[in-house]
Amino acid sequence: MSNVTLHTLTARKQAGEKFAVLTAYDATFAHQVSSAGIEMILVGDSLGMVLQGRDSTLPVSLDDMAYHTECVARGNQGAMIMADLPFMTYATPEQAMASSAVLMQAGAHIVKLEGGSWLCETVSQLAERGVPVCAHLGLTPQAVNKLGGYRVQGRTRESALQMIEDARRLEEAGASMLLLECVPSLLAQEITMNAGVPVIGIGAGPHTDAQVLVLQDILGITTGRTPRFVKNFLAESDSIQGALRLYGEQVRDGRFPSAEHGFD
Ligand code: KIV
Repeated sequence: MSNVTLHTLTARKQAGEKFAVLTAYDATFAHQVSSAGIEMILVGDSLGMVLQGRDSTLPVSLDDMAYHTECVARGNQGAMIMADLPFMTYATPEQAMASSAVLMQAGAHIVKLEGGSWLCETVSQLAERGVPVCAHLGLTPQAVNKLGGYRVQGRTRESALQMIEDARRLEEAGASMLLLECVPSLLAQEITMNAGVPVIGIGAGPHTDAQVLVLQDILGITTGRTPRFVKNFLAESDSIQGALRLYGEQVRDGRFPSAEHGFD
């Protein structure tokens, strides 16, 4: 596979072609995921739970993210690498620039941050300085204490309109991608239709331009409750490489996620 870039994925959106994203935190799995043709790897701060056994993403440090981004970059075979800016490392535009520099120098091609319109100035300054940004809306796990738990977001008319407005303003500020986590499928559809940039979904129904899941979840290696938007692809395959390829195929041809994996 030739290297996947922002240009590749933006063209995919414009052509109405979906793409697949998976998390990876180390070189071996980055190699497996990218050589299976998965277009994008997310070095997510979910590593706080998946690797470190914590009960939230809040304790993950910038050093942790830089270390795992470097590991992923060494194993990667041409996928685009997105890295999460962890909790409180982008509270001001200046801090966001310094933190993003660390992740980009570790091998990220795009950074992801969580939040709404309050991030417009940060997104704009990063974009102007050559750092592509993905804005994560809906259930933003770094704000779990404010949200009162890991709940579906955007179910009231007011919160749905706010999310539509946040998405519009963040794109206008220069966000290169949006990510919607745990939002009703129809709201995700509306945001995706209105966006000029690719919209990645998780628990956001079948209508987004791309889908992301945690790698361990699609291999059925979980330590707790399995959310409804997860599917075990290893159960339908006889190898890890087969499961990764199946996930990519089913996302691209629209078989996954189906309505049962989304929320009303
Ligand atoms: O950290 C992560 O893995 C994420 C996904 C759940 C979208 O942000």
